[in-house]
Amino acid sequence: MATPHQKLNQPPAITVENICFGWTVDSPVLQNCFLEVPRGEFWMLLGNNGSGKSTLLRLLAGLITPNSGRVAIDSPFGFVFQNPDQQLVMPTVGADIAFGLVKENLTYVQVKERVREALSAVNLLELERRPIYALSGGQKQRIAIAGALARHCEVILFDEPTALLDPDTQIELVQQVQKLVKVRGLTALWVTHRLEELDYCDGAFLLQQGKVIAQGEPQALKAQVLAT
Ligand SMILES: Nc1ncnc2c1ncn2[C@@H]1O[C@H](COP(=O)(O)OP(=O)(O)O)[C@@H](O)[C@H]1O
Ligand SMILES: [Mg+2]
Repeated sequence: MATPHQKLNQPPAITVENICFGWTVDSPVLQNCFLEVPRGEFWMLLGNNGSGKSTLLRLLAGLITPNSGRVAIDSPFGFVFQNPDQQLVMPTVGADIAFGLVKENLTYVQVKERVREALSAVNLLELERRPIYALSGGQKQRIAIAGALARHCEVILFDEPTALLDPDTQIELVQQVQKLVKVRGLTALWVTHRLEELDYCDGAFLLQQGKVIAQGEPQALKAQVLAT
C-alpha cells in the first residue's frame, strides 16, 4: 500500500547497483549486490553476522568506495550507529544537536528552532538541557535521530540501533521510526538481526553471500528466514 508521502514515478531514495566490494582483494564481501529503497518507506536489511550489512551502509554513506558498481542516496542523509556513545559528542542534548548544524550558517534563533523541532519530533523536548551521560540508551538513540532531523535529513541509515537496548525500549524505538517515516515522509534503511522488528517495516532485504537473495513483504521474508 502506498504511504501518503510515497512519490510515484520518482527514483528510489537509495540505490545500490551491481556493487562489488572487499576489504582485501581475495575476500569479497559484496558481489554484484543490488537493492533499491523506495522514497518515503521504511525498509530493513537482514543477514547473518559478517554478511556485509555494515559494509553496505558504509558504502552508502560514502565512507568507503566500491570496487565496481554504483551507489546513490538522497541527501542530506543521517546515520545512526549501534552504540550512541560513538555518536553523541557534546556535553548536553541541545548542544549535541546544534553541533550537527555548524556547517549550515544558521542564526542562533534558527538553530534553536531546529533543535526544538527535532526534539519535539522524537518526544524529548524536555531533555534539551539534559547532560548526555544522564540519558538512557533508548533516549540516546532518539537524540541521534533528532540530530538527523535537525539537519533536515530525508534519509536515515540505521546500523543495528536496537542491539544495546532492552526489549521494551527496542520496540518503542522501532515504532517511533515507523511513525517518523509515515508522518514526515522520511526514507529509512534499518539493519537488524531481530526478526520481531520486521513487524514495523514496509519491506525487507535478506543479504547472503554478498547479495540480496530475497526481498519484499516483511512477513514473507520472516517466514523464509525462520525456515532456513
Ligand atoms: N574495517 C574492516 N576491515 C577489514 N575487514 C572488515 C572491516 N569491517 C568488516 N570487515 C569484514 O567484512 C565482513 C563483513 O562485515 P560486516 O559488514 O561488519 O558484517 P555485518 O554488519 O553483516 O555483521 C566480515 O568478514 C568482516 O570481518
Ligand atoms: Mg554490522
